[in-house]
Amino acid sequence: GTLFGIIGAMDEELTLLRGALQDAREERAGGFTLFSGTLAGHAALLAQCGIGKVNAGALAQVLALRGVSHVLFTGVAGGLQPGLKVGDLVVSTDAVQHDVDVTALGYPVGTIPGEGAAWPADAHLLELALTAAADLGGVRAVAGRVASGDQFIADPAKGRWLHETFGAACAEMEGAAVAQVCHKAGVPFVIIRSLSDSADEGAETDFRTFTALAAERAKRVVLGVLERF
Ligand code: ADE
Repeated sequence: GTLFGIIGAMDEELTLLRGALQDAREERAGGFTLFSGTLAGHAALLAQCGIGKVNAGALAQVLALRGVSHVLFTGVAGGLQPGLKVGDLVVSTDAVQHDVDVTALGYPVGTIPGEGAAWPADAHLLELALTAAADLGGVRAVAGRVASGDQFIADPAKGRWLHETFGAACAEMEGAAVAQVCHKAGVPFVIIRSLSDSADEGAETDFRTFTALAAERAKRVVLGVLERF
């Protein structure tokens, strides 16, 4: 049967979903607190990973070993694609790790030797997320590449570089780590991010102001995916 693993990095991102979890039970595994129960009619394991790629990858591995059949990552991101605004949604086509640099050995920036340049998201989950987002009404959602790194991007030049180098639609700090682990474990995944800021000079203020709204939107899309699955 299906068992959805649902990950968020921050409190804002996970608390909202915990409120919708029925018959919730709590347990500890690998340093994380897992909440199991029923979410929108599906068996689910929810957990908060904390900030950054290592935390995200570690939790993804715990969930993979617990036998999740699908992974959804929910949260906020900084917009990189021109035209995207705070509150818009990005659903991952694939994910890259922009802070990987083995260029001195001849590898393209972002590429880990022995791995592909990007980890592809599951096409069915992507399609369900776009449909769920469209059904929210009045919220723009795009399919795009997610760029992850252990950096909060708050510099327009760096944002432009990320967009031009990787074709990334948004920047965040966890998705591609989950993508790498899920790919290795053979678990289909998708990353659902709502923009809290535009990864520029205003990013710090915007992030503080809009994270709650953006997290709420991403949560609604996650529930929408489960309802349609
Ligand atoms: N998450 C939300 N906004 C972000 C940004 N600007 N950079 C990295 N992660 C983020």
